[in-house]
Amino acid sequence: MADLTPLIAEAQQDFANCHDVTALENAKAKYLGKSGALTEALKGLGKLSAEERPAAGAAINVVKQSVEQALNARRDSILAAEQAKQLASESIDVTLPARAQAAGGLHPVTLTLRRVEELFHSIGFSVANGPEIETDFYNFTALNIPDNHPARAMHDTFYVDNGTDSMEHVLRTHTSPVQVHYMETNTPPLKIIAPGRVYRVDSDATHSPMFHQVEGLWVDEQISFANLKGVVQDFLQKFFERDDLTVRFRPSFFPFTEPSAEMDMSWNGGWLEIGGCGMVHPEVLKHVNIDSEKYRGFAFGLGVERLAMLRYGVNDLRHFFNNDLRFLQQFIK
Ligand code: FA5
Repeated sequence: MADLTPLIAEAQQDFANCHDVTALENAKAKYLGKSGALTEALKGLGKLSAEERPAAGAAINVVKQSVEQALNARRDSILAAEQAKQLASESIDVTLPARAQAAGGLHPVTLTLRRVEELFHSIGFSVANGPEIETDFYNFTALNIPDNHPARAMHDTFYVDNGTDSMEHVLRTHTSPVQVHYMETNTPPLKIIAPGRVYRVDSDATHSPMFHQVEGLWVDEQISFANLKGVVQDFLQKFFERDDLTVRFRPSFFPFTEPSAEMDMSWNGGWLEIGGCGMVHPEVLKHVNIDSEKYRGFAFGLGVERLAMLRYGVNDLRHFFNNDLRFLQQFIK
């Protein structure tokens, strides 16, 4: 019988040339398949004599085992290589820099509102709120601005379309309606501020269609204009951290205060208007059933963006609402 030993080296070479399991199975057939060289050799044993058969069979088996070993070794190495490749493709590169989390911060108007609330709180004012969509009654009538009153022209009002022709609802044009809501449900003494958003058809470097006011109201038996001046001046000095800051009152007109005044504060050698104020008009007290013979009070309305502009040195109010990060990031502490 022919020597089968060279088949071992031949098979090893064939298997080495295979790089996946399918190719390896095909290569295997040449040696161990149904009509493979070793299977044929085993079939040929029957033709040998009984004496020759054991030795020939043993020789074939030695070669067969070696070929099987080579096959298994190659299969293991192909599978190991495939697994390594898969692991490498699925691995996470932990050295990749993480995505940075941008630090958030409070909006300068929010910072200003918080400061305003804190300072008024420290002198005994509590905070009241009211709706931003108001009825015409609260925004105007209850504040002594009846229909067709020329003072309505002072407010460029956004009316809310409620599907009817009535001009019943407005986006509040000032925080003064909160005075009325509060006085309707509370009895004097009253000492509140009412900060919040207000709306007017208005837009330029110092006017925005949406802006913030903070209303102040103090009603008691002995409240005078001197108290108003003291409270506002004290607040502004603390707000701007300037003890030499003074306020000036210019006679003005608001239908819901009498007398009324514009408040200016001293700033860099000049005067800057920061809000309106006055003694609560007896008609307003009458609307909310407060005895105007017994009680008096003052009210004021400050523009919050104006305060923020002065405090932070911002020269255009629109910066507050353009959402430009280059502007807003300057306020992150
Ligand atoms: C009023 O709104 C009165 N309700 C204030 C008041 C309250 C008077 C209580 C008496 C008693 P005036 O329209 O002047 O007043 O507005 C007050 C302040 O809001 C202004 O001084 C200004 O600082 C600010 N302001 C007014 N319009 C705008 C606007 N479009 N954009 C930004 N700030 C504004």
